[in-house]
Amino acid sequence: MMSTMLMSRKSKAIAAWCGVLFLVLCIHFYISYNGIEIFSGARELYGTRYRDPAPYDRDTQIKTIKRPPLPPLNPGHIRKQLYTPPPKEEKKQRFPQTLVIGTGKCGTRALLDYLGMHPYVACATREVHFFDKDENFKRGLNWYKAQMPRSYSNQMTIEKSPSYVEHPRTPLVARKINKDMRILWVVKDPVVRLMSVMALHYSNLGEKYREPFLQRVNGTITIKKDYYPLWRGEYVLHLRRWLKYFPLAQIHVLDGTDLVKDPVTEIQEVESFLELPPLLGPQNFYYNVSKGFYCMVPFSATSPQCLGSSKGRKHPVLNATVKTLLYDFFRPYNEQFFKLLGKRFNWEPKD
Ligand code: A3P
Repeated sequence: MMSTMLMSRKSKAIAAWCGVLFLVLCIHFYISYNGIEIFSGARELYGTRYRDPAPYDRDTQIKTIKRPPLPPLNPGHIRKQLYTPPPKEEKKQRFPQTLVIGTGKCGTRALLDYLGMHPYVACATREVHFFDKDENFKRGLNWYKAQMPRSYSNQMTIEKSPSYVEHPRTPLVARKINKDMRILWVVKDPVVRLMSVMALHYSNLGEKYREPFLQRVNGTITIKKDYYPLWRGEYVLHLRRWLKYFPLAQIHVLDGTDLVKDPVTEIQEVESFLELPPLLGPQNFYYNVSKGFYCMVPFSATSPQCLGSSKGRKHPVLNATVKTLLYDFFRPYNEQFFKLLGKRFNWEPKD
């Protein structure tokens, strides 16, 4: 009887130990198999918290834009050979990854042609006007792509049309084509730009110069606010529209006057914004004293190449009253523009 009782206690103890062992094994297997998920879930949670949108920082935002990486170049590579196409690849036409959207008369041609010297860039040489001209837009996306230069996959296709910035369709459709599209926008002191338009207008029409942006009411001179070239210089209105479709980090705005004075610094900033290998430098520019502008020295060329005679015209000289009227008119737009952009340009009257 005694021995039977001892036996049953022993078997109960064994059963209890087995139970404990079973439980430990279960927990072990549970952690082994599910632990990865549990911890990676925690990591994800941590990661999500970690990736909470930081306060706006242009550089950080640029780094988060996804683009296929360009192959790194080492200094030796740069000296010996500027560009290597990917092996076994044929050139083909591609949608642009970067648009120069305007503004006309601010230096859009200079910017495109300077960029065209970069071996990793393929530029559409003529203005395509796909987004801003109905007859072209109706031709469709295949037509648009067919206007692009043939390029390799490690090159960046760039197109410029100087009125893209003002047409409401451009940002909307450009985003549909590529939400990571980089935008380059050259602006200029809007009064200087207006004088550039005047110079173009009167050299084209051969008319005697007048001031179509002014009106005289009861002997008082005022600005004719609905004059189209003035609206083009109200940059803040256009920037507000673009910001509905693209973050500011994807839009690089540069001053056309700085591009004229110091093309090396400006183009190197553009190179960096586009994440292109830093190849362009002083060796690519030559100051032409008689023209009063820099000309280009592409890597492949032996002599400098200047922009055509339609670039760099002599501007009409404004009298002091009209100058003040124009600067007073543009100042509030400029101030709002600088605020939105987070960057100022020196757009006050110069003697
Ligand atoms: P002006 O002709 O009024 O001086 P866009 O190509 O957008 O129409 O801009 C034309 C402007 O580009 C010219 O305006 C000129 O100031 C500017 N520009 C910038 N770099 C230039 C360069 N290297 N040669 C000639 N013009 C240049």
